[in-house]
Amino acid sequence: MSYAPSAERYSKMIYNRCGRSGLKMPAISLGLWHNFGADTAHATKRAICQTAFDHGITHFDLANNYGPPPGSAEAAFGEILRTDLAGYRDELIISSKAGYLMWDGPYGEWGSRKYLIASCEQSLKRMGLDYVDIFYSHRFDPDTPLEETMGALDHIVRSGKALYAGISSYNSQRTKQAAAILKDLGTPCVIHQPSYNMLNRWVERDGLKDTLKDLGIGSIAFTPLAQGMLTNKYLGGVPAGSRATQGKSLKADFLSDKAIENIAKLNEIANNRGQSLAQMAIAWVLRDGGITTALIGASRPEQVTDCAGAIGNLDFSPEELAEIDIYADGENINLWAQSSETKDGAAQR
Ligand SMILES: NC(=O)c1ccc[n+]([C@@H]2O[C@H](COP(=O)([O-])OP(=O)(O)OC[C@H]3O[C@@H](n4cnc5c(N)ncnc54)[C@H](OP(=O)(O)O)[C@@H]3O)[C@@H](O)[C@H]2O)c1
Repeated sequence: MSYAPSAERYSKMIYNRCGRSGLKMPAISLGLWHNFGADTAHATKRAICQTAFDHGITHFDLANNYGPPPGSAEAAFGEILRTDLAGYRDELIISSKAGYLMWDGPYGEWGSRKYLIASCEQSLKRMGLDYVDIFYSHRFDPDTPLEETMGALDHIVRSGKALYAGISSYNSQRTKQAAAILKDLGTPCVIHQPSYNMLNRWVERDGLKDTLKDLGIGSIAFTPLAQGMLTNKYLGGVPAGSRATQGKSLKADFLSDKAIENIAKLNEIANNRGQSLAQMAIAWVLRDGGITTALIGASRPEQVTDCAGAIGNLDFSPEELAEIDIYADGENINLWAQSSETKDGAAQR
């Protein structure tokens, strides 16, 4: 069926400036890490993207390896671009990344110039695009000179394959170094993509959030819902088909009895604010203006609609924030912790 986007879409969303750049991002963005591989019906993927755009979500975030199999999310999104969004390319911010394992041999992961440039080309082909809006180094590579990785991003931007450069899961210290190199090259670091939610606050402890503010770099917080934990979906048990049943990235031990008790308390706080827990979790990420956009995932279009409603109440009283702090406890859920520290044991995204 042919798709015509909602004429109201731009009145439904807030657009925030990305650091000190000219780029504006929707307060809520959609990521295609899960639910866009070969294990999901194409009609569902289309409906999720259409619903997002109808709500003014202009940013779609991908990576070379999203699937399964790796590459299939980009291929599916390319198809949706052709069938549904062909006339709207200039209204969209599309990103991709390279850093995690994508193909066999010594050139298929990490941060070499060889890998990043080849991977960007492959992503463009899969999506049928001439350029992506943002291209990221998906993770810091301790074995490749940072100058080489940043030089590859600079090359990708200068050759017109991406409009802006970004980095993901780099800690504060490496972000400062990367930003300085990119600045010298004349291609600013426009955006950083870290994990961040009420249960995973490493960007505060590490100082990254302050660093990004100081450097004028925008930020897109991924897993604002802690992969679905910060919603009401697990309060009555683990529903069939949910991410926790899939044996992928949402580990069963994240959902301990204590965690569920705390989530129930957070759900009460959200309801007292007139929000779903998902909406409050997104609002919390955006609460102080330090984050440009919250990067959600969704398995159904209804989830996108619910999440988009978060912008209806982005303000928190000091009492609400203090009460959230009592129950928001889940420091062991950051799968990307080692990506910002060491090479060994880095998470698989
Ligand atoms: N840079 C990186 O290294 C990195 C790493 C991870 C993710 N990311 C990016 O961040 C994006 C988002 O990650 P994520 O999918 O983990 O984000 P998330 O928003 O924390 O979790 C999304 C999941 O929450 C559930 N959900 C969403 N809205 C809901 C609602 N309103 N009510 C109830 N449940 C709801 C769904 O779970 P069910 O599927 O169970 O229904 C959905 O799949 C990714 O797609 C990717 O673009 C980047």
